Amino acid sequence: MLHLLVLAAAFALAAAQGIAEWQKPLPQPPGAANCGRGRKAVHIGSSFSFLMNGDWRYYFTDYFPSDWHCDRGEVTQLHLGVLDDITNRIAPIIHDPYSKGPPKAPKNQQSSLMVTIPLDTEASGPLVLEPEPGWKLFHHMDTSIDILWTSTRQPGRGLNVTSISVSKGVSVSASTGPISLALHTPYIRLPHDVYDFMAKFTSPQPFDMGRGMESVDLVSCNSTSSFPTINLDLEGGAQQILVKPAQYVLHVSQSLGGPFTGKCVLLVKRGGDLEIGYAALRGKTAWLDWANARTGFQA
Ligand SMILES: *[C@@H]1O[C@H](CO)[C@@H](O)[C@H](O)[C@H]1NC(C)=O
Ligand SMILES: *[C@@H]1O[C@H](CO)[C@@H](O)[C@H](O)[C@H]1NC(C)=O
Repeated sequence: MLHLLVLAAAFALAAAQGIAEWQKPLPQPPGAANCGRGRKAVHIGSSFSFLMNGDWRYYFTDYFPSDWHCDRGEVTQLHLGVLDDITNRIAPIIHDPYSKGPPKAPKNQQSSLMVTIPLDTEASGPLVLEPEPGWKLFHHMDTSIDILWTSTRQPGRGLNVTSISVSKGVSVSASTGPISLALHTPYIRLPHDVYDFMAKFTSPQPFDMGRGMESVDLVSCNSTSSFPTINLDLEGGAQQILVKPAQYVLHVSQSLGGPFTGKCVLLVKRGGDLEIGYAALRGKTAWLDWANARTGFQA
């Protein structure tokens, strides 16, 4: 029974977001056993996992913000708003009657969230609540990871992206402004001229999705090695995020299914408001550090 409701909920969610019906519900619907994890006892050290769905978006499989969601087996999409919600649920530090000195102030939101977007479409990504980014809870064996920090009043938002460029012998760039991380979409949205330059090397073939939907742009899977790298310059070039073809081209696996199975999809779109979809972070970790008002990217 729960299983049926889960599928119904997933379809309802997909319909609400204007996603085509060929897209499958979650490969692993959340089960009753996981229910409740997101409702109480969200604390430092908590971790949640999310999986890519057939609509190429990520959904938490174990985060249910309310009883209502839990009863229906509703799934929650990976989104900055959800990260805010999780941060808001972190229990304040309780005054310890045995400690000397004045009681500590509640430390709501004085934390860091670590999000790893897998490169492998079958792998689930962890979201970990850390007391501070140095802990690298999911990278405790690996101290070699460098974090590029950029200051942001609200982590993940208003990133000072000063230019976006694509280089291939020559480079074409455009200046930009504050941009938020768009973890809810795969797509990186580039200015027209930068996209057009990039299209010369990637030769995207638009596949019409009809009904006013944006096309899905297919590229040749066997020529991605000759595709250019996208450079996002932060703070006038003080920090740089490089997005490689392995990140911005999605090879649609058998288990994701749909009409694009086995094909390669360009996760880059032309024009409109600039957006940094999760494609820019595939295979990498980002830290949203509320305590220090900064955002970090794995170098
Ligand atoms: C890629 O593979 C297709 C189909 O096998 C072939 O027609 C095409 O020539 C190949 N392209 C390159 C650049 O190797
Ligand atoms: C963004 O970075 C540039 C270059 O470092 C700097 O001049 C500008 O003031 C920054 N903008 C904001 C809003 O911090």
